[in-house]
Amino acid sequence: MRVVSSKDEMRRACRESSRPLSLVPTMGALHDGHLSLVDRARSDSSTVAVSIFVNPTQFGEGEDFTEYPRDLDADLELLQRHGTDLVFVPDVAEVYPPGFDTWVDVGPIADRLEGAARPGHFRGVATVVAKLFGIVQPDRAYFGQKDGQQTVVVRKLARDLDMGIEVVVLPTVRESDGLAMSSRNVRLNPEQRNAAAAVYRALAAGMNLWSSGEADASKVRDAVRQELEAEPLLEVVDYVSVASPDSLEELDRAGRGAMLSTAVHLGPIRLIDNVIME
Ligand code: PAF
Repeated sequence: MRVVSSKDEMRRACRESSRPLSLVPTMGALHDGHLSLVDRARSDSSTVAVSIFVNPTQFGEGEDFTEYPRDLDADLELLQRHGTDLVFVPDVAEVYPPGFDTWVDVGPIADRLEGAARPGHFRGVATVVAKLFGIVQPDRAYFGQKDGQQTVVVRKLARDLDMGIEVVVLPTVRESDGLAMSSRNVRLNPEQRNAAAAVYRALAAGMNLWSSGEADASKVRDAVRQELEAEPLLEVVDYVSVASPDSLEELDRAGRGAMLSTAVHLGPIRLIDNVIME
């Protein structure tokens, strides 16, 4: 496994690697969700590249950029064990050198849901993903369904800018109580960690109502919200959404393929999760 921090060296290493080449972009603090992407990339490709970069431009003012968990040694050990060929670990100045001033704007889908709660977040995500795609030039890139809106944004970015990169989205990996795996979960104390299970429980309640024949999206949203509000440690519910999987616009009728998602505040972190209605 080769670990590279310079973008020129990474570009050269990728050019010299056998194809197909797959990229798994991450911000590190790897867990089984990331590793499921690496494993799938390994079985699909000749070369597996993983990037580890906590991207400052996708964090807003007052968000948890400095507190975001980081453990490079543990990450490298896991990636080695999972058969990674190339790891790209640039620093901030390598990705955003002085004079950097070009941004990727994916349009109105970036302003909905997470984008409404975190203005500028998807501009930062789309820009760094476009840069990683430009440096690595992968055949495929792997993302987790856990960041549901991010998958829509990245697919759109790759399509709109004719990047010729296949975006592969894999299912959310969950703990035994349903909590979606996330690097930020380590910041929860045991009591908050127990309470966090309410997020998936609430989405499951919405899904159950829909599966039993209720197609009125507002009733599905209410069922989710009710379950979330029953958990006292969940301080603020940012949104409960039943949205089109392409435009992310809110739906009146919850049809097959719609994305049921929520974001809540719990102790020091914000938790997001979603399920596709199918
Ligand atoms: O999902 C993430 O970890 C990040 O948003 C990504 C895609 C690596 C971009 O920084």
